[in-house]
Amino acid sequence: MKLSVQWKQKWCISMLTAVLLMPVMSYSVSAATETSTTSQTTAVQTSLPKIKILATGGTIAGSSESNTDVTGYKAGALGIDVLINAVPEMKKVADISGEQIANVGSPDIDNAVLLQLANRINELLASDDVDGIVVTHGTDTLEETAYFLDLVVKSDKPVVVVGAMRPATAISADGSFNLYNAVKIASNPEATGKGVMIALNDRIGAARYITKTNTTGTDTFKSVEQGYLGVVSGDKVYFYNQSTRKHTANTIFDVKGITELPQVDILYEYQNNGSYLYDAAVASGAKGIVVAGSGNGSLSTRSSEGAARAVDQGVTVVRSTRTGSGVVTPLDSDAEIGTLYADSLNPQKARILLMLALTQTKDPTTIQSYFEAY
Ligand code: SIN
Repeated sequence: MKLSVQWKQKWCISMLTAVLLMPVMSYSVSAATETSTTSQTTAVQTSLPKIKILATGGTIAGSSESNTDVTGYKAGALGIDVLINAVPEMKKVADISGEQIANVGSPDIDNAVLLQLANRINELLASDDVDGIVVTHGTDTLEETAYFLDLVVKSDKPVVVVGAMRPATAISADGSFNLYNAVKIASNPEATGKGVMIALNDRIGAARYITKTNTTGTDTFKSVEQGYLGVVSGDKVYFYNQSTRKHTANTIFDVKGITELPQVDILYEYQNNGSYLYDAAVASGAKGIVVAGSGNGSLSTRSSEGAARAVDQGVTVVRSTRTGSGVVTPLDSDAEIGTLYADSLNPQKARILLMLALTQTKDPTTIQSYFEAY
């Protein structure tokens, strides 16, 4: 049968379109259906650095029926295999394997997941079979997990935490490239001894310094005061700076065998607030309180009374700030009330350090020294 020239042209165009769209289509389909919780993916080349990807959920594993939905999607919907298979280019950079630790939105990451993740990372990094770790995570509380790991991972091998602001199913999703960059950073010999790093938007941030600053923008992670460790640009990883604070192998914190962390709550300072919030925290079992104080970690007269009552009952109270940047400095009132100051840690990171500090000691002078060292 003879085919008309016009039909042949149409057939060629549709075949070409199908071939070009195939990777996109197959990813979208699996993206909408895949929810596996445990898996292993082994790469072919063994001479490459061996990087383990530990998945915890978040938008980077988010899925929606609509490819323009960037706010109403389900975070933590896709399994680790889908994330790895979506970025086959990673396998040219590293010998990749994956493991699912959790699959939740990061507001649901709790102390139990933190301890599980940290212990697993320490176990993996102690082995010659793993050269570096990438953790996929929701961005909302990513900095808390990263700073926790920065304080408890007992290895100089690279650990990179990565997330995304757009779900995997969105047009122009940022997760695939962020993940590719994270693997490149973790595979780079210069990443050794840099502490836990965060990779988003082509920047490499130190867990100690970087914070989420915007609700939906892809450039949300900023390290305004202390700057970034480096960048990924034009297929290369560039390191420029290094954190001056103690981290990973150089901390005194060790979560091996720890099954629970002390309750530390955060109270927010605002006009006309009530000191009853301090009493409520203490009554519900808080061993520590971090205050997101106004300005330089200032407390109202009412908060100061609440904080003094908490300190009298053996609770450690640390002043941080709600301003979003800057150092909280010592004040005369600290000596009067017994409060400590958070240095440049924001409230959510001050809470992480205070929880770990309280696993070691209740001595205020020692705890204050931790806030100056870590
Ligand atoms: C989350 O933190 O799990 C949701 C938001 C995000 O990952 O960007």
